[in-house]
Amino acid sequence: MSFTNKTVVVTGGAKGIGEGCIRSFFRENANVVIIDIDKKAGTTLHDELGARSLFIECDISKEQQVKNAMNKAAAVYGGIDVLVNNAGIMKYASVTDTTEELWDTILNTNLKGAFFCAKYAIPYMQKRGGGVVINMSSAQAFMAQDKVAAYATSKTAMLGLTRSIAVDYAPDIRCVALCPGGIDTPLNREAFAKSPDPKATEQATIDLHLVQRLGTPEDIGEMALFAASEKGSFLNGHPIRVDGGIGVKIGGSGAK
Ligand SMILES: NC(=O)c1ccc[n+]([C@@H]2O[C@H](COP(=O)([O-])OP(=O)(O)OC[C@H]3O[C@@H](n4cnc5c(N)ncnc54)[C@H](O)[C@@H]3O)[C@@H](O)[C@H]2O)c1
Repeated sequence: MSFTNKTVVVTGGAKGIGEGCIRSFFRENANVVIIDIDKKAGTTLHDELGARSLFIECDISKEQQVKNAMNKAAAVYGGIDVLVNNAGIMKYASVTDTTEELWDTILNTNLKGAFFCAKYAIPYMQKRGGGVVINMSSAQAFMAQDKVAAYATSKTAMLGLTRSIAVDYAPDIRCVALCPGGIDTPLNREAFAKSPDPKATEQATIDLHLVQRLGTPEDIGEMALFAASEKGSFLNGHPIRVDGGIGVKIGGSGAK
């Protein structure tokens, strides 16, 4: 799966799943572009990887910043071949507890940010004759935790964005959504830590997965790599559930 001379842009690439994606593509010789608002983490990862990596500080919810970031990525590496629309945030609130400000913050990052990134990366893919967009959705596009109204909505809408990109730019550009289950990242660690009993919450989350573990950023990075590669060239427009079998089991039979 060689990505030699290919440029792969990963939003939220400084930590968690995005970092997992950066490391997978970097290992396969891609030029990797880490887009993130976390300057410290982005710089640290860039310093570790060295040549063939670039960090661009950018808030994906801001259109001009995204435009500048894609222009810079393309200028440094001569184009863009793969965009992983990964950056996302989650805050807990039910519909009645969600303020307009919270709704906008979550939707502006998770959904509008992905739209901006696709809008400014796709023209560079077209100049190359093709490319791949990977949209990071979630198991929560199919089922929901309690109190994730804005988040679950944003992740479900990512499937619509995925279909639209796939339809509008076929056959040269493919778009695939990945739907991870519970992944061991700073986002989830923070969620566990804020719960009344972090250990119990973590175990309850593990128990939802048939594989009896949380996923790793590498689990998702490797799937992004496959989906973006030639080996994944028959994947387009649909979600791929990478979730350790979450939601497959509906209960016990009670049979001995
Ligand atoms: N962790 C999980 O269990 C899980 C499950 C399903 C889907 N996801 C999705 O995967 C993606 C990554 O999740 P994670 O767990 O790695 O999160 P994380 O919080 O660990 O990392 C997210 C990264 O995105 C960056 N970021 C946040 N807002 C940004 C913005 N406006 N502009 C640029 N960068 C920004 C952060 O600085 C951070 O580096 C998210 O879209 C999340 O919804 C995560």
